[in-house]
Amino acid sequence: MKIFMVVGARPNFIKVAPLHRALSKCSNVVPRIIHTGQHFDFAMSGIFFEQLELPTPDYFLGVGAGTHTQQTAAIMVEFEKVIQTEKPDLVMVVGDVNSTLACALVCAKENIPVAHIEAGLRSGDRTMPEEINRIITDSISDQLFVTEKAGVENLLKENIASERIHFVGNLMIDTLARHLPQIDQMNLIGKLGLCSGDYILMTMHRPVNVDDLAGLTRILQIIKALSAEQTIVFPMHPRTRKNILMLGLLRDFEEVKGLKMLEPQGYFEFLNLIKNSRIVLTDSGGIQEETSYLRVPCITLRETTERPVTVEEGTNYLLPDFDTHSILNKVNEINAVKLKKGQIPAFWDGNTAERIVAILREKYFNSYVCDK
Ligand code: UD1
Ligand code: UDP
Repeated sequence: MKIFMVVGARPNFIKVAPLHRALSKCSNVVPRIIHTGQHFDFAMSGIFFEQLELPTPDYFLGVGAGTHTQQTAAIMVEFEKVIQTEKPDLVMVVGDVNSTLACALVCAKENIPVAHIEAGLRSGDRTMPEEINRIITDSISDQLFVTEKAGVENLLKENIASERIHFVGNLMIDTLARHLPQIDQMNLIGKLGLCSGDYILMTMHRPVNVDDLAGLTRILQIIKALSAEQTIVFPMHPRTRKNILMLGLLRDFEEVKGLKMLEPQGYFEFLNLIKNSRIVLTDSGGIQEETSYLRVPCITLRETTERPVTVEEGTNYLLPDFDTHSILNKVNEINAVKLKKGQIPAFWDGNTAERIVAILREKYFNSYVCDK
């Protein structure tokens, strides 16, 4: 049984690591990693393979950057070649990036079964490229593995047959739970001259926030207002750094006292930064989940979230109006009284990969043993 796992972007590597490990324990299963090359810098890709003990990809498609159509089409063309040579029995895709959609679509055309991990999430905002990727991928996948209850409800509303929907929890949390000892060993904050609880950690990379002058100027204003009171640590996504440079704003950012701009961080380093931060300010999907698991307050600068459990049960606050005053008020409120205690959502327990493998085994390789 040849099972392909597709990865392309930073969050994909983090989700696939526990799945690869669990599948490798099954006799007669050959798990293969196909890296599309959507993310390619060492800091956005290689370091995660090293830290999370992922093997070198079996195929590297080397697609790189481009417009959505260029990138999606290029991945499809390259992936089709591999599929036609290798003829896998099952392809697993994760998350909502262009690599996810492109490879699921190739499989649908080639009649190869597809399993989608992190299915059913919906922001309701079709201007987000990820929302289009999620809707189409779910509609053509055979097995849909869901991280939170809202995902099941969304899929049922879209008339997906209930026997294809599996509420299994969150692979990202499997990785986090497994690597807590290494995360705790990092001493990045010491090197940055910071103390635990001293700083706000920030990440921004959504096109709506970082692709134009208006969005980046708004982010700069927020940073200026917040950094008067506390240090802001900002590991910068390459998309954000490129746009800051291109729009001539680099000096404005560099001049903000109290802002520490960093390169994208390794997984252990970044999770250590989350754990020790007072508050996280982000527009990331995965970071809303990690902060909820670690019970660190998170302010999400987006109008909607496809991960409502992080707001309803976790420690996430959605601030849709992007207004500097409301952000300052929320930060002050959280600083004064930690508003949400937060609870860990159902099945975010570190055992999601095993649950997924058990379901796959029942559906596709019942006679194999999975305790190698
Ligand atoms: C992609 C995903 C987004 C996800 C994010 C995770 C889509 C549509 N978007 O956004 O959902 O949240 O990954 O981080 O799939 N770049 C580099 N080096 C790299 C990677 C990217 O310089 O290693 C540059 C590219 O050249 C490009 C820009 O960053 O100019 C954006 O990269 P791209 O993969 O298109 O989208 P992301 O913004 O990373
Ligand atoms: N992350 C990381 N280093 C960083 C920033 C993020 O390791 O400098 C991790 C983060 O902890 C999470 C994942 O990358 O596990 C999220 O990736 P990102 O925010 O790029 O994508 P999204 O989840 O929004 O799709």
